[in-house]
Amino acid sequence: MKIIKNTLFFILILLFSFSAVAEQTAEEIIKERKSIFSKNYKTAKRVQGLASDGNLDEAKKLMIEMSGNYKRLLDLFPESSKVGFKTEALPSIWEYKDEFNLLMTKASNNMIELTSVIDETKDMKATLGKYMWSSCKSCHSKFRAEH
Ligand code: HEC
Repeated sequence: MKIIKNTLFFILILLFSFSAVAEQTAEEIIKERKSIFSKNYKTAKRVQGLASDGNLDEAKKLMIEMSGNYKRLLDLFPESSKVGFKTEALPSIWEYKDEFNLLMTKASNNMIELTSVIDETKDMKATLGKYMWSSCKSCHSKFRAEH
């Protein structure tokens, strides 16, 4: 009888700790993706500043960094992270996951393309708009909640 009790107790503890870990993971994932988006926003503004000042080499380094961040973001939208922790991610992400991932990949590739087109550009503002800023809106309009 005692063994059964102990075993049940052990299983309960095990179940409890598993669900605690799962919850923690979703929190960590949501926090990580939020901080990467915030960082990309700051980086995008720096890219704009540097590029406007003609400091293209420094700007290009940051473009490559942003591109890598978008790739990392592809892994940060698992099914387990749909709700909670003040996420602004919309359910449409998981409904249209292919489209979402495609937009993310395109945003990443555009930053790499930008590193080469920026040398030739005559209209810096328009080029940054086309290759960097347009990605944000095209995704947010469908996949991020109004804030
Ligand atoms: C392919 C989709 C996609 C692209 C591209 C994208 N975002 Fe987002 N962004 C999201 C989603 C989804 C969220 C909500 C994440 C959450 O709250 O879990 C978000 C959240 C954010 C946040 C809020 C972060 C926080 O702390 O809550 C900022 C700021 C942001 N994005 C800026 C940008 C900027 C600037 C760009 C372009 C340079 C951009 N995003 C490109 C999908 C995208």
